[in-house]
Amino acid sequence: MKKTSRIYVAGHTGLVGSALIRALRARSFTNLITRTHKALDLTQQGAVERFFKKERPEYVFVAAAKVGGIHANNTYPAEFIQQNLAIQTHVLDMAYKYGVKKLLLLASSCIYPKRCRQPMKEDQLFTGLMEPTNEPYGVAKLAGIKMCEAYNRQYGTQFVPVIPANAYGPNDHFGENGHVLAALVAKFHEAKSKNKKKVTLWGTGKPKREFFFVDDLADACLFLMERYREIGVINFGPGVETSIAQLAKRIQKVVGWKGDIEFDTTRPDGNPRRLLDSSRIRALGWSAKVPLEDGLRITYDWYTRTQVR
Ligand SMILES: NC(=O)c1ccc[n+]([C@@H]2O[C@H](COP(=O)([O-])OP(=O)(O)OC[C@H]3O[C@@H](n4cnc5c(N)ncnc54)[C@H](OP(=O)(O)O)[C@@H]3O)[C@@H](O)[C@H]2O)c1
Repeated sequence: MKKTSRIYVAGHTGLVGSALIRALRARSFTNLITRTHKALDLTQQGAVERFFKKERPEYVFVAAAKVGGIHANNTYPAEFIQQNLAIQTHVLDMAYKYGVKKLLLLASSCIYPKRCRQPMKEDQLFTGLMEPTNEPYGVAKLAGIKMCEAYNRQYGTQFVPVIPANAYGPNDHFGENGHVLAALVAKFHEAKSKNKKKVTLWGTGKPKREFFFVDDLADACLFLMERYREIGVINFGPGVETSIAQLAKRIQKVVGWKGDIEFDTTRPDGNPRRLLDSSRIRALGWSAKVPLEDGLRITYDWYTRTQVR
């Protein structure tokens, strides 16, 4: 990408999209194209075509999607599959029609089979059933991967589906529908504000997860846009596993709350591990830079400045 290339970030107000904008600005890319959801609904084919015809982006990051937690996925499965299929279909097709040079489509690690060998390698996609609660969302994402492959094969496009580990950071969703890290930040902050002596968390605290600071995620996306010469699906994450209990302790320290953490072991734990195999991107010379403590501090600072009244 040249510094003046026309770069469209779809979903720029979201967790991932806003980090992409920060990363592109920090590297002095000057020609960034954005539209809010209100200004351009990507599920509307005609509107997407008019946008591509007018703006003619050269590079596209697709970070727009209907995203949500278990409750939202369970309650609105039709919207999750329909909207995500529509967004991908319209954006990829118009990117092909209007000659986009390269496109990155953000998929998610939840599309790996539920019972997947750990760490999860790209060749294990499509080998088993995924977690039923996010199947409609996940099936749309898998279709996106196949759509990239099909367009690349038939039309010679460069559409790259990428699978980042679960992210956290500024613009994360801290409500009840958020990921575990954001939910814990909100919970411990509340415990501090209300002087609570104890916080109870679900499960044993033993499951391990990868926590990916979103600015590192965006850095990896730019790296792939500029240096990845292949077009096959690729994973990336920090490659460091942290148990929920360790995470809770670290967040407690960052928030500065001094009470006790209790685990309700009658509640389910979920998978013991969900680790992406990021060996391919590491072999290309990329690795994550922001340690969990630093990412947590930045996130908590953002949360208290913007989300707490
Ligand atoms: N968060 C993660 O941990 C993570 C990890 C790996 C991959 N990803 C992938 O990255 C992508 C973005 O995730 P995110 O966490 O950044 O989600 P997010 O914070 O919810 O952001 C989604 C963005 O898409 C926009 N959007 C939704 N529907 C739209 C539509 N019909 N037309 C136009 N814009 C629309 C949203 O705008 P409004 O808010 O105004 O609706 C928002 O700007 C997803 O594909 C996700 O699977 C996320």
